[in-house]
Amino acid sequence: MTALDQTMHFAAQNASNSLPRPVAFEIQGPFPYYGRMRNTFLPFCRPNITEEDIAAISEVLRSGWITTGPKVAALEDAFATRTGAVHAIAATSGTALMHLALKALGVGPGDEVVGPSMTWVSTPNMVELLGATNVFVDVDRDTLLASPDAIAAAITPRTKVVIPVHYAGAPVDLDGIRAICRAKGVTLLEDAAHAIGTQYKGREIGGTDSAIFSLHPIKNITSGEGGVLTTNDASLARTVRRLRFHGLELDAHDRAQQGRSPTSEVQQPGFKQNLPDMNAVLALRQLPRLDALIARREAISQQYRTHLAEIDGILPLADPAWSHRHARHLFVVRVDERKSGMERTELMEGLKARNIGTGIHFVASHTHRWYRENRGQWMGQLPNTEWNSQRICTLPMFPDMQDADVMDVIHAIKETLANTRGRVAVAGGLR
Ligand SMILES: Cc1ncc(COP(=O)(O)O)c(C=O)c1O
Repeated sequence: MTALDQTMHFAAQNASNSLPRPVAFEIQGPFPYYGRMRNTFLPFCRPNITEEDIAAISEVLRSGWITTGPKVAALEDAFATRTGAVHAIAATSGTALMHLALKALGVGPGDEVVGPSMTWVSTPNMVELLGATNVFVDVDRDTLLASPDAIAAAITPRTKVVIPVHYAGAPVDLDGIRAICRAKGVTLLEDAAHAIGTQYKGREIGGTDSAIFSLHPIKNITSGEGGVLTTNDASLARTVRRLRFHGLELDAHDRAQQGRSPTSEVQQPGFKQNLPDMNAVLALRQLPRLDALIARREAISQQYRTHLAEIDGILPLADPAWSHRHARHLFVVRVDERKSGMERTELMEGLKARNIGTGIHFVASHTHRWYRENRGQWMGQLPNTEWNSQRICTLPMFPDMQDADVMDVIHAIKETLANTRGRVAVAGGLR
């Protein structure tokens, strides 16, 4: 190695370790600081993909039929079986299904849609694109779930649909929300993007009402991109299926493979949101191992909770009070600056410098620029949402993570905290 090579090599090795070292460590608990640093990056999520999954995708690629066909039909059947719903319809994303479902329910100008701002912006965006009005509800400060009371208070004669979110894999209080929707005559459409495998009072999410699941790569199972709507409403199922493919009653596979009429007619103008078989097969393969994947997530989650209990000011979410099975989709903490002496950005930068990725789920929808500028009336109205929006941080959690990876995250949090407190002490206090 030349001197320059050596310098570059040294710089590369230390590029992610550029935070100033604390003067004194203030680490509590049984895990002393060893000064260890990961030499590989730990992302906050990674899909669980086996060699057999790859072989199954290759088989579809070799089969001569790669778009919507038998694998999509099998995935839909598997979702109906798993959730207990009568109908399941797959499409290119959860967002696409939200669009199709709201359209099928006739949501348009003059209508209001009630849901939390603490969600992925995809849902409020679809409401806006249809010309309807988002009515945001605040969430519980520690579960980030919208309560039946908050939803009841937001319903007006113009409300057409209520969209609660099973946040991070924890179910909302579905019985209470369903009772309100029935009493007020509005449709309940669950955002179950995080909730495949979640149970509420012993029943699988998706089996009782209408729910939209996401198969995006960070989700508990994935098809690369994709989503599934489950419902017991035959009319909604039929219209979503039709809208998914140009407003035709039959899809391309029906026509090509089943010898059906090639001249199916447009029943209403539709979209082009059908899921390809080469995507569907991945989720189809993953669904049977969902329970094992959730069990591993549960174990990681417990390990985090045990060790985070020793750290002041890094607050995991609370689990709901009602009987449930959590799908442990995300492990979210809040960085309470008053107790930790550190703000979220410092935690995220500190972990990044130590080769650990994080995420934010979510920046509250109503605080995004377009919403601030065009729907500014919500600013300051949703205190729990805004408090969390400024403090939440998603720590790495995926089934292939090892216990040692979790400990790397815990060590990195402690080290970042000690480092930040040292700097705060020198600077004379928190901002
Ligand atoms: C709460 C929530 N709703 C809806 C969606 C949309 O799902 P998709 O990415 O499949 O469109 C997501 C995706 O991350 C989500 O987190």
